[in-house]
Amino acid sequence: MIKTRVTEMLGIEHPIIQGGMMAVGLAELAAAVSNAGGLGILTALTQPTPEDLRREIARCREMTDNPFGVNLTLLPTINPVPYDEYVQVIIDEGITVVETAGRSPEQYMEAFNNAGVKVIHKCTSVRHALKAEAIGCAAASVDGFECAGHPGEDDVPNLVLLPCAVSRLRIPVIASGGIGDGRGLAAALALGAEGVNMGTRFVATREAPVHHNVKQMMVESSELDTALIFRTLRNTARIYKNSIAKEVLSIEGKPGDTDFSELQPLVAGARGRERVLEQGDTDDGVWTAGLVMGLIDDIPSCAELVSRIVAEAEDIIENRLQSMLQRA
Ligand SMILES: Cc1cc2nc3c(=O)[nH]c(=O)nc-3n(C[C@H](O)[C@H](O)[C@H](O)COP(=O)(O)O)c2cc1C
Repeated sequence: MIKTRVTEMLGIEHPIIQGGMMAVGLAELAAAVSNAGGLGILTALTQPTPEDLRREIARCREMTDNPFGVNLTLLPTINPVPYDEYVQVIIDEGITVVETAGRSPEQYMEAFNNAGVKVIHKCTSVRHALKAEAIGCAAASVDGFECAGHPGEDDVPNLVLLPCAVSRLRIPVIASGGIGDGRGLAAALALGAEGVNMGTRFVATREAPVHHNVKQMMVESSELDTALIFRTLRNTARIYKNSIAKEVLSIEGKPGDTDFSELQPLVAGARGRERVLEQGDTDDGVWTAGLVMGLIDDIPSCAELVSRIVAEAEDIIENRLQSMLQRA
């Protein structure tokens, strides 16, 4: 058993969290991760309305008795999101852990803290992690440059970002980005993290509610198969490098400012969700994936994955590292 302040704080068996994932973070996956002893997370904005989130929380409760969280991604959107109402549903439904990402969750901290909801803010820089601590977050998840989704614009990978954050923060730090096996967990703990947050690795599991082709493509892909789009818009996103991603990059590579209206039909979330994640055409829309694809060789259940990661990390700590110590 690996015990840390994160396992204690969240009331979970293993220090493994499944990060919020648009279109993937549904009850099936979150409950499977929580049943495996980690922390599953529902993605609030995958639910079209706050009332749908309420129903999804109820559905997840039917599938697990263990704690699970909700991700609230605070990013600018084309259609305004009724964030206050999502926050109220989270509180009303007795959710005890929220993962926020994107903008600072400052304006919701009072409501969350008054309701006893622990906020884990996921961010990509030490300065944002310090801000999260200052506004009362219970932990900071640090997303290194390896991560799927939005790595920020600083491009600092976790081998440096994580210990930099750990040195400066008092609240527990969770390592996010690039972790997919027990080696990653052991390394993150060695660097000072008290838990890991994984996205990409959990997509290639039996319970992830996405088409099998997507999972299989991740098995067949390597660490070289992602692309960084939206760099020209300073809203970088790491996605799977398919022909749509390449088309986006070539539009962004044209001289002058990028015209988002040219990109929109290619990158529309609904297109990625329907054509890739639901219908399984992995080349016909954008989908988020991280460098850790290079470490994905199978499609296990969440229970198999979580127990394998923990066993491998324990073995590394107990045997491999111990055996390297020279005693006088
Ligand atoms: C398919 C997919 C969708 C994601 N959607 C979101 C999201 O909506 N909100 C968010 O905060 N993070 C999102 N992420 C990022 C993850 O929560 C996590 O921070 C990231 O995947 C960690 O890097 P890793 O993929 O290397 O494990 C997404 C990741 C994936 C793979």
